[in-house]
Amino acid sequence: MSTSLTIRRPDDWHLHLRDGDMLRAVLPETTRHFARAIIMPNLVPPVVTAADAIRYRAMITDALPAGSSFQPLMTLYLTEQTNPEDVAMAHATGLIAAVKLYPAGATTNSASGVANFDKVRGVLDRMAEIGLPLCVHGEVTDADIDIFDREAVFIDRVLDPIRRATPGLRVVMEHITTSGAVEYVQSQATDLAATITTHHLVINRNHILVGGIHPHYYCLPVAKRESHRLALVKAATSGDNHFFLGTDSAPHVDAAKETGCGCAGCFTATNTMSILAEVFDRENALPNLEAFTSLSGPAFYGLPVNKSTLTLTKGTPVAYPAKITSKAGPVTVFDPGFDLHWHVGP
Ligand code: NCD
Ligand code: ZN
Repeated sequence: MSTSLTIRRPDDWHLHLRDGDMLRAVLPETTRHFARAIIMPNLVPPVVTAADAIRYRAMITDALPAGSSFQPLMTLYLTEQTNPEDVAMAHATGLIAAVKLYPAGATTNSASGVANFDKVRGVLDRMAEIGLPLCVHGEVTDADIDIFDREAVFIDRVLDPIRRATPGLRVVMEHITTSGAVEYVQSQATDLAATITTHHLVINRNHILVGGIHPHYYCLPVAKRESHRLALVKAATSGDNHFFLGTDSAPHVDAAKETGCGCAGCFTATNTMSILAEVFDRENALPNLEAFTSLSGPAFYGLPVNKSTLTLTKGTPVAYPAKITSKAGPVTVFDPGFDLHWHVGP
Protein backbone atom coordinates (compact mmCIF):
# COMPACT_ATOMS: atom_id res chain seq x y z
CA MET A 1 0.00 0.00 0.00
CA SER A 2 1.41 3.41 -0.99
CA THR A 3 1.72 5.92 1.83
CA SER A 4 3.42 8.67 -0.12
CA LEU A 5 3.00 9.95 -3.63
CA THR A 6 4.90 12.70 -5.45
CA ILE A 7 3.34 14.20 -8.56
CA ARG A 8 3.98 17.17 -10.79
CA ARG A 9 2.29 20.21 -9.32
CA PRO A 10 -1.38 20.19 -10.36
CA ASP A 11 -3.34 22.76 -12.36
CA ASP A 12 -7.04 23.54 -12.14
CA TRP A 13 -8.60 23.74 -15.61
CA HIS A 14 -11.86 25.39 -14.44
CA LEU A 15 -11.93 27.76 -11.49
CA HIS A 16 -14.09 30.64 -10.22
CA LEU A 17 -12.13 33.26 -8.29
CA ARG A 18 -14.68 36.13 -8.34
CA ASP A 19 -13.36 39.62 -7.53
CA GLY A 20 -13.03 42.02 -4.58
CA ASP A 21 -13.24 40.57 -1.06
CA MET A 22 -14.16 37.11 -2.29
CA LEU A 23 -11.14 36.95 -4.62
CA ARG A 24 -8.81 37.85 -1.77
CA ALA A 25 -10.35 35.19 0.48
CA VAL A 26 -10.39 32.28 -1.97
CA LEU A 27 -7.22 32.83 -4.02
CA PRO A 28 -4.81 31.44 -1.36
CA GLU A 29 -6.93 28.28 -1.15
CA THR A 30 -6.03 27.54 -4.77
CA THR A 31 -2.47 28.85 -4.90
CA ARG A 32 -1.47 26.64 -1.96
CA HIS A 33 -1.52 23.54 -4.19
CA PHE A 34 -2.09 24.61 -7.79
CA ALA A 35 0.41 26.20 -10.16
CA ARG A 36 -2.05 27.46 -12.76
CA ALA A 37 -5.80 27.69 -13.27
CA ILE A 38 -8.18 28.51 -16.08
CA ILE A 39 -10.07 31.47 -14.63
CA MET A 40 -13.77 31.63 -15.39
CA PRO A 41 -14.97 35.00 -16.73
CA ASN A 42 -18.48 35.06 -15.22
CA LEU A 43 -18.01 38.14 -13.09
CA VAL A 44 -20.71 40.78 -12.82
CA PRO A 45 -20.29 42.29 -15.41
CA PRO A 46 -18.51 39.47 -17.27
CA VAL A 47 -14.97 39.50 -18.70
CA VAL A 48 -15.87 39.97 -22.36
CA THR A 49 -13.04 41.84 -24.07
CA ALA A 50 -9.26 41.63 -24.01
CA ALA A 51 -9.24 44.89 -22.07
CA ASP A 52 -11.53 43.33 -19.41
CA ALA A 53 -9.19 40.31 -19.15
CA ILE A 54 -6.14 42.54 -18.69
CA ARG A 55 -7.91 44.32 -15.82
CA TYR A 56 -9.09 41.07 -14.23
CA ARG A 57 -5.65 39.47 -14.50
CA ALA A 58 -4.16 42.49 -12.69
CA MET A 59 -6.74 42.14 -9.89
CA ILE A 60 -5.75 38.51 -9.46
CA THR A 61 -2.00 39.09 -9.49
CA ASP A 62 -2.45 41.98 -7.02
CA ALA A 63 -4.28 39.63 -4.64
CA LEU A 64 -1.67 36.84 -4.83
CA PRO A 65 -0.08 35.78 -1.54
CA ALA A 66 3.49 37.06 -1.20
CA GLY A 67 6.00 34.90 -3.08
CA SER A 68 3.35 33.00 -5.04
CA SER A 69 4.21 32.08 -8.63
CA PHE A 70 0.63 31.08 -9.43
CA GLN A 71 -0.30 31.79 -13.04
CA PRO A 72 -3.90 32.72 -13.89
CA LEU A 73 -4.86 31.52 -17.38
CA MET A 74 -7.45 34.01 -18.52
CA THR A 75 -10.59 33.38 -20.56
CA LEU A 76 -13.08 35.59 -22.38
CA TYR A 77 -16.82 35.25 -21.96
CA LEU A 78 -18.33 34.65 -25.39
CA THR A 79 -21.28 36.89 -26.26
CA GLU A 80 -23.21 37.39 -29.47
CA GLN A 81 -21.32 40.68 -29.86
CA THR A 82 -17.80 39.25 -29.38
CA ASN A 83 -15.39 40.50 -32.00
CA PRO A 84 -13.29 37.71 -33.59
CA GLU A 85 -10.33 40.09 -34.00
CA ASP A 86 -10.32 41.05 -30.31
CA VAL A 87 -10.26 37.35 -29.45
CA ALA A 88 -7.48 36.58 -31.93
CA MET A 89 -5.40 39.47 -30.62
CA ALA A 90 -5.88 38.37 -26.99
CA HIS A 91 -4.70 34.91 -27.99
CA ALA A 92 -1.73 36.15 -30.03
CA THR A 93 -0.41 38.22 -27.14
CA GLY A 94 -0.68 35.26 -24.76
CA LEU A 95 -3.33 37.00 -22.67
CA ILE A 96 -5.99 34.28 -22.91
CA ALA A 97 -5.88 30.48 -22.94
CA ALA A 98 -9.51 29.88 -23.93
CA VAL A 99 -12.92 31.36 -24.65
CA LYS A 100 -15.88 30.36 -22.50
CA LEU A 101 -19.29 29.55 -23.91
CA TYR A 102 -22.26 29.83 -21.56
CA PRO A 103 -25.63 29.16 -23.12
CA ALA A 104 -27.67 32.21 -22.02
CA GLY A 105 -29.26 31.56 -18.64
CA ALA A 106 -27.60 28.17 -18.03
CA THR A 107 -25.96 28.98 -14.70
CA THR A 108 -24.69 31.65 -12.28
CA ASN A 109 -24.06 34.97 -14.09
CA SER A 110 -24.72 33.62 -17.58
CA ALA A 111 -27.35 36.12 -18.68
CA SER A 112 -25.04 37.60 -21.36
CA GLY A 113 -24.27 34.18 -22.82
CA VAL A 114 -25.15 32.88 -26.26
CA ALA A 115 -28.78 32.32 -27.30
CA ASN A 116 -28.33 32.23 -31.08
CA PHE A 117 -25.30 30.15 -32.05
CA ASP A 118 -25.29 31.48 -35.63
CA LYS A 119 -24.21 34.84 -34.19
CA VAL A 120 -20.92 33.42 -32.85
CA ARG A 121 -20.01 31.48 -35.99
CA GLY A 122 -17.35 34.02 -37.00
CA VAL A 123 -15.63 33.81 -33.61
CA LEU A 124 -15.69 30.02 -33.57
CA ASP A 125 -14.26 29.81 -37.10
CA ARG A 126 -11.45 32.18 -36.12
CA MET A 127 -10.73 30.15 -32.98
CA ALA A 128 -10.49 26.94 -35.01
CA GLU A 129 -8.03 28.68 -37.35
CA ILE A 130 -5.74 29.84 -34.55
CA GLY A 131 -6.12 26.76 -32.32
CA LEU A 132 -7.73 28.59 -29.39
CA PRO A 133 -9.82 26.21 -27.23
CA LEU A 134 -13.50 26.76 -26.48
CA CYS A 135 -14.60 25.84 -22.95
CA VAL A 136 -18.24 24.89 -22.95
CA HIS A 137 -20.86 24.86 -20.22
CA GLY A 138 -22.75 21.91 -21.71
CA GLU A 139 -26.36 22.36 -20.75
CA VAL A 140 -29.37 23.50 -22.77
CA THR A 141 -31.64 25.97 -21.05
CA ASP A 142 -35.00 25.19 -22.66
CA ALA A 143 -37.75 25.29 -20.04
CA ASP A 144 -39.24 22.04 -21.34
CA ILE A 145 -36.04 20.04 -20.84
CA ASP A 146 -35.74 18.35 -17.47
CA ILE A 147 -32.77 19.67 -15.52
CA PHE A 148 -31.30 16.17 -15.23
CA ASP A 149 -31.38 15.77 -19.04
CA ARG A 150 -29.89 19.13 -19.99
CA GLU A 151 -26.35 17.87 -20.53
CA ALA A 152 -27.41 14.91 -22.69
CA VAL A 153 -29.64 17.12 -24.84
CA PHE A 154 -26.85 19.70 -25.19
CA ILE A 155 -24.50 17.12 -26.70
CA ASP A 156 -27.02 16.17 -29.39
CA ARG A 157 -28.52 19.56 -30.15
CA VAL A 158 -25.62 21.97 -29.65
CA LEU A 159 -22.18 20.49 -29.06
CA ASP A 160 -22.05 17.90 -31.80
CA PRO A 161 -23.52 20.27 -34.43
CA ILE A 162 -21.07 23.06 -33.46
CA ARG A 163 -18.11 20.70 -33.71
CA ARG A 164 -19.26 19.37 -37.08
CA ALA A 165 -19.79 22.90 -38.40
CA THR A 166 -16.38 24.07 -37.15
CA PRO A 167 -13.80 21.44 -38.06
CA GLY A 168 -10.60 21.80 -36.09
CA LEU A 169 -12.22 23.65 -33.18
CA ARG A 170 -10.68 22.44 -29.93
CA VAL A 171 -13.37 22.04 -27.30
CA VAL A 172 -13.39 21.29 -23.58
CA MET A 173 -16.72 20.00 -22.38
CA GLU A 174 -16.62 21.23 -18.84
CA HIS A 175 -17.69 19.63 -15.59
CA ILE A 176 -19.28 16.61 -17.22
CA THR A 177 -21.82 14.77 -15.10
CA THR A 178 -23.15 11.88 -17.17
CA SER A 179 -22.01 8.52 -18.54
CA GLY A 180 -23.28 9.74 -21.93
CA ALA A 181 -20.81 12.63 -21.86
CA VAL A 182 -17.99 10.26 -20.87
CA GLU A 183 -18.83 8.02 -23.83
CA TYR A 184 -19.18 10.91 -26.25
CA VAL A 185 -15.81 12.41 -25.27
CA GLN A 186 -14.06 9.03 -25.31
CA SER A 187 -15.35 8.33 -28.80
CA GLN A 188 -13.84 11.51 -30.25
CA ALA A 189 -10.34 12.45 -31.34
CA THR A 190 -8.09 14.60 -29.20
CA ASP A 191 -9.72 17.85 -30.34
CA LEU A 192 -12.35 17.19 -27.65
CA ALA A 193 -11.60 16.81 -23.95
CA ALA A 194 -13.61 17.07 -20.74
CA THR A 195 -13.01 18.40 -17.28
CA ILE A 196 -14.40 16.59 -14.25
CA THR A 197 -14.92 18.32 -10.92
CA THR A 198 -13.93 17.03 -7.51
CA HIS A 199 -17.47 17.07 -6.15
CA HIS A 200 -19.00 15.14 -9.05
CA LEU A 201 -16.62 12.28 -8.21
CA VAL A 202 -18.05 12.23 -4.68
CA ILE A 203 -21.75 13.10 -4.66
CA ASN A 204 -24.82 11.93 -6.51
CA ARG A 205 -28.25 13.56 -6.49
CA ASN A 206 -29.25 11.81 -3.27
CA HIS A 207 -26.63 13.84 -1.44
CA ILE A 208 -28.52 16.98 -2.44
CA LEU A 209 -32.03 15.83 -1.63
CA VAL A 210 -32.22 12.94 0.84
CA GLY A 211 -32.92 13.75 4.48
CA GLY A 212 -33.52 17.43 3.75
CA ILE A 213 -32.20 19.82 1.14
CA HIS A 214 -28.42 20.29 1.21
CA PRO A 215 -27.65 23.58 -0.52
CA HIS A 216 -23.87 23.16 -0.35
CA TYR A 217 -24.15 20.16 -2.68
CA TYR A 218 -26.14 22.10 -5.25
CA CYS A 219 -24.17 23.09 -8.32
CA LEU A 220 -24.65 23.18 -12.06
CA PRO A 221 -24.64 20.90 -13.87
CA VAL A 222 -26.56 19.28 -11.02
CA ALA A 223 -25.17 15.94 -9.78
CA LYS A 224 -26.92 12.97 -11.41
CA ARG A 225 -27.73 9.43 -10.23
CA GLU A 226 -25.08 7.08 -8.82
CA SER A 227 -24.44 5.18 -12.07
CA HIS A 228 -23.28 8.46 -13.62
CA ARG A 229 -20.99 9.23 -10.69
CA LEU A 230 -19.42 5.80 -11.12
CA ALA A 231 -18.84 6.47 -14.82
CA LEU A 232 -17.10 9.75 -13.94
CA VAL A 233 -14.88 8.04 -11.37
CA LYS A 234 -13.94 5.41 -13.94
CA ALA A 235 -13.09 8.05 -16.54
CA ALA A 236 -11.11 10.26 -14.15
CA THR A 237 -9.09 7.42 -12.69
CA SER A 238 -8.47 5.67 -16.03
CA GLY A 239 -5.46 7.72 -17.13
CA ASP A 240 -7.26 8.54 -20.44
CA ASN A 241 -5.98 12.00 -21.38
CA HIS A 242 -9.40 13.11 -22.65
CA PHE A 243 -10.25 13.75 -18.98
CA PHE A 244 -8.61 16.18 -16.59
CA LEU A 245 -9.36 18.13 -13.43
CA GLY A 246 -11.42 21.29 -13.50
CA THR A 247 -12.61 21.77 -9.95
CA ASP A 248 -15.30 24.31 -10.80
CA SER A 249 -14.66 25.51 -7.26
CA ALA A 250 -17.34 28.21 -7.12
CA PRO A 251 -17.51 30.22 -3.91
CA HIS A 252 -20.76 31.79 -2.74
CA VAL A 253 -21.26 33.23 0.73
CA ASP A 254 -23.41 31.02 2.95
CA ALA A 255 -26.20 33.60 2.93
CA ALA A 256 -26.52 33.16 -0.85
CA LYS A 257 -26.57 29.35 -0.62
CA GLU A 258 -28.74 28.86 2.48
CA THR A 259 -31.82 30.71 1.30
CA GLY A 260 -35.13 30.27 -0.49
CA CYS A 261 -33.45 30.35 -3.90
CA GLY A 262 -29.85 29.29 -3.31
CA CYS A 263 -27.03 29.82 -5.81
CA ALA A 264 -25.38 26.95 -7.65
CA GLY A 265 -21.75 26.20 -6.82
CA CYS A 266 -19.59 24.01 -4.56
CA PHE A 267 -16.44 25.45 -3.00
CA THR A 268 -13.76 22.74 -3.19
CA ALA A 269 -10.46 24.61 -3.56
CA THR A 270 -9.43 24.01 0.05
CA ASN A 271 -9.55 20.20 0.17
CA THR A 272 -9.60 19.14 -3.49
CA MET A 273 -6.22 17.40 -3.60
CA SER A 274 -6.91 15.37 -0.44
CA ILE A 275 -10.34 14.37 -1.75
CA LEU A 276 -8.96 13.34 -5.13
CA ALA A 277 -6.20 11.27 -3.54
CA GLU A 278 -8.84 9.52 -1.42
CA VAL A 279 -11.02 8.81 -4.47
CA PHE A 280 -8.09 7.51 -6.54
CA ASP A 281 -6.78 5.45 -3.60
CA ARG A 282 -10.16 3.75 -3.18
CA GLU A 283 -10.05 2.83 -6.87
CA ASN A 284 -6.46 1.55 -6.58
CA ALA A 285 -5.64 4.18 -9.17
CA LEU A 286 -3.17 6.46 -7.39
CA PRO A 287 -0.63 6.03 -10.22
CA ASN A 288 -3.14 7.81 -12.52
CA LEU A 289 -3.72 10.81 -10.24
CA GLU A 290 -0.87 12.75 -11.83
CA ALA A 291 -2.31 12.31 -15.33
CA PHE A 292 -5.66 13.67 -14.15
CA THR A 293 -4.38 16.66 -12.16
CA SER A 294 -1.06 17.53 -13.78
CA LEU A 295 -0.39 16.01 -17.22
CA SER A 296 -3.49 15.66 -19.42
CA GLY A 297 -4.60 19.29 -19.01
CA PRO A 298 -1.29 20.79 -20.15
CA ALA A 299 -1.20 18.31 -23.03
CA PHE A 300 -4.60 19.48 -24.29
CA TYR A 301 -3.78 23.17 -23.86
CA GLY A 302 -0.32 22.76 -25.40
CA LEU A 303 1.43 24.02 -22.27
CA PRO A 304 4.46 22.56 -20.51
CA VAL A 305 3.83 20.46 -17.42
CA ASN A 306 4.87 22.13 -14.17
CA LYS A 307 8.48 21.61 -13.11
CA SER A 308 7.76 21.65 -9.39
CA THR A 309 6.09 18.78 -7.54
CA LEU A 310 3.62 18.12 -4.76
CA THR A 311 3.87 15.27 -2.26
CA LEU A 312 0.83 13.59 -0.73
CA THR A 313 1.30 11.49 2.39
CA LYS A 314 -1.25 9.12 3.89
CA GLY A 315 -1.88 9.38 7.62
CA THR A 316 -4.39 10.36 10.28
CA PRO A 317 -7.50 12.28 9.12
CA VAL A 318 -6.69 15.62 7.52
CA ALA A 319 -8.00 18.69 9.35
CA TYR A 320 -9.42 21.46 7.17
CA PRO A 321 -11.72 24.37 8.02
CA ALA A 322 -15.48 23.87 7.65
CA LYS A 323 -15.67 27.44 6.35
CA ILE A 324 -13.30 30.07 5.14
CA THR A 325 -13.97 33.65 6.12
CA SER A 326 -14.22 36.47 3.65
CA LYS A 327 -15.15 40.09 4.23
CA ALA A 328 -18.24 39.29 2.16
CA GLY A 329 -19.23 36.53 4.63
CA PRO A 330 -18.36 32.89 5.39
CA VAL A 331 -17.97 30.35 2.56
CA THR A 332 -18.62 26.68 3.36
CA VAL A 333 -15.92 24.26 2.26
CA PHE A 334 -17.21 21.17 0.44
CA ASP A 335 -17.75 18.27 2.84
CA PRO A 336 -17.08 14.97 1.05
CA GLY A 337 -18.85 13.08 3.84
CA PHE A 338 -15.86 10.87 4.63
CA ASP A 339 -12.49 11.29 6.33
CA LEU A 340 -9.57 12.37 4.19
CA HIS A 341 -6.22 10.72 4.87
CA TRP A 342 -3.96 12.26 2.25
CA HIS A 343 -2.01 15.25 3.55
CA VAL A 344 -0.64 17.61 0.95
CA GLY A 345 2.96 18.59 1.55
CA PRO A 346 5.10 21.22 -0.13
C1 NCD B 1 -20.72 28.38 -11.13
C2 NCD B 1 -20.65 29.73 -10.42
O1 NCD B 1 -21.09 29.80 -9.27
O2 NCD B 1 -20.11 30.68 -10.99
N1 NCD B 1 -21.68 27.56 -10.47
C3 NCD B 1 -21.77 26.22 -10.52
O3 NCD B 1 -22.72 25.64 -9.98
N2 NCD B 1 -20.85 25.49 -11.11
C4 NCD B 1 -21.04 28.58 -12.56
C5 NCD B 1 -20.81 27.36 -13.41
O4 NCD B 1 -19.67 26.99 -13.68
O5 NCD B 1 -21.78 26.76 -13.86
ZN1 ZN C 1 -17.87 26.80 -13.33
